[in-house]
Amino acid sequence: MAKVVDSYTISEGSGKETNHYVFSIKGSGIRYKSGDAMGLFPKNNEQLVKDTIVKLRAKRNDLVSTGDVDETTLENALMHRFVIHRAGRKFLAMVHEKLGKGKPKRELEAILNDSHELEKYLFVRDYIDIMNEYKVKISPQEFIDTLSPIAPRLYSISSSPKAHLGEIHLTVAIVKYNNFERDRFGLATGDLAKGISVNETEVPIYIQPTRDFVIPSDGSKDIIMVGPGTGIAPFRAFMEERVNTGATGKNWLFFGEVHEESTFFYKDEWFEYMKNGHLTKLTTAFSRDQKEKIYVQNRITNNGKEIWDWLQNGAYFFICGDKQYMAKDVHKALINIAEEHGKMKKEEAEHYINQTLMKEEHRYLRDVY
Ligand SMILES: Cc1cc2nc3c(=O)[nH]c(=O)nc-3n(C[C@H](O)[C@H](O)[C@H](O)COP(=O)(O)OP(=O)(O)OC[C@H]3O[C@@H](n4cnc5c(N)ncnc54)[C@H](O)[C@@H]3O)c2cc1C
Ligand SMILES: NC(=O)c1ccc[n+]([C@@H]2O[C@H](COP(=O)([O-])OP(=O)(O)OC[C@H]3O[C@@H](n4cnc5c(N)ncnc54)[C@H](OP(=O)(O)O)[C@@H]3O)[C@@H](O)[C@H]2O)c1
Repeated sequence: MAKVVDSYTISEGSGKETNHYVFSIKGSGIRYKSGDAMGLFPKNNEQLVKDTIVKLRAKRNDLVSTGDVDETTLENALMHRFVIHRAGRKFLAMVHEKLGKGKPKRELEAILNDSHELEKYLFVRDYIDIMNEYKVKISPQEFIDTLSPIAPRLYSISSSPKAHLGEIHLTVAIVKYNNFERDRFGLATGDLAKGISVNETEVPIYIQPTRDFVIPSDGSKDIIMVGPGTGIAPFRAFMEERVNTGATGKNWLFFGEVHEESTFFYKDEWFEYMKNGHLTKLTTAFSRDQKEKIYVQNRITNNGKEIWDWLQNGAYFFICGDKQYMAKDVHKALINIAEEHGKMKKEEAEHYINQTLMKEEHRYLRDVY
């Protein structure tokens, strides 16, 4: 159990919420290294638990069996053990079964038989939404039996244990949206944003150690770090680690966010590192500060010659953040750099980036999600 000892927003005025959290692990025996992730077990939103119990026409002290403990209260099971902020297929199938013949039953049957429709339907609904649409009697135990257990969430640690003894820092983007005129939150980020009190709340955590996403043990090696958005997290840890170990290699950080004014995460720290000569280069891409979107890969392409020279000189290349789009685009930019500045044919450039740099030399490392 780790106590939350600090929490503050680092994106004030941007329209999105990204927060910095500090957890105390003093006396716990937990150890970590820069590059590791922290796992945490979230709890559900208290109001959502209450509203779900009301919707079920049940009582919070109703006893239910949850599989691995004999019996617990409905409230406790919903608070800590099961996913209730997004609905699942099993529940919908039960509702369908309970409905008497008629239009609602046929409607649900059509959704259940079309995987694309089903995904669309469940994406925007929780159990309350479904119970609002289809009126059937469901006992607390029947409800519990359809739910999925809560899975822990991972966060890249944004501190080095050498700089913050007994602490773990995280950089977390809060997932928020509104469906059917109700505000919704991601499970873990909603818990972090709404369900904790600083210096009071304790959260069950564990360390997910990384094997590959580590700074070179040879401190004289140069590193290039690409971390837009919350992808910045491990690089704050890396810089703290490099400074604390007296590493002599050059450090180049690429950071991207929406606006320089409101989302330049840890700006003062980067400027201090620049002033002291610890950060050799800082290249930013603020996507919404001008008409055309500018992303980190545009800056990488524009700095292609110098990146190529760093790589030829043995530099390591790290990417952290969005897996679906950003990491793929940065990957493509790297291949283009090998083509243009390494004078390679496309296949050679792909082989160099995918095989030589990534698999053989382990100098291209990714922490993407
Ligand atoms: C190795 C690793 C490291 C990570 N590091 C970090 C980190 O440093 N910082 C960080 O912030 N995150 C990080 N993540 C992501 C993190 O683990 C969680 O996935 C993220 O915080 C969301 O969790 P959640 O429980 O709040 O959201 P969930 O409850 O899991 O919900 C997220 C989902 O909500 C859905 N959703 C989004 N918008 C809508 C909408 N409008 N309508 C309906 N559904 C919607 C999407 O399907 C989305 O996938 C990392 C992940 C991994 C695997
Ligand atoms: N799976 C997805 O669809 C997806 C995508 C992104 C983030 N996420 C999740 O959303 C949460 C918040 O993310 P975050 O706060 O870390 O920041 P983010 O949403 O990744 O945004 C950070 C910066 O990256 C820019 N960006 C958008 N598309 C990009 C691309 N293809 N290449 C390079 N940069 C790009 C954004 O610009 P603009 O916003 O102005 O375009 C913004 O300036 C995280 O939980 C993350 O996992 C999910």
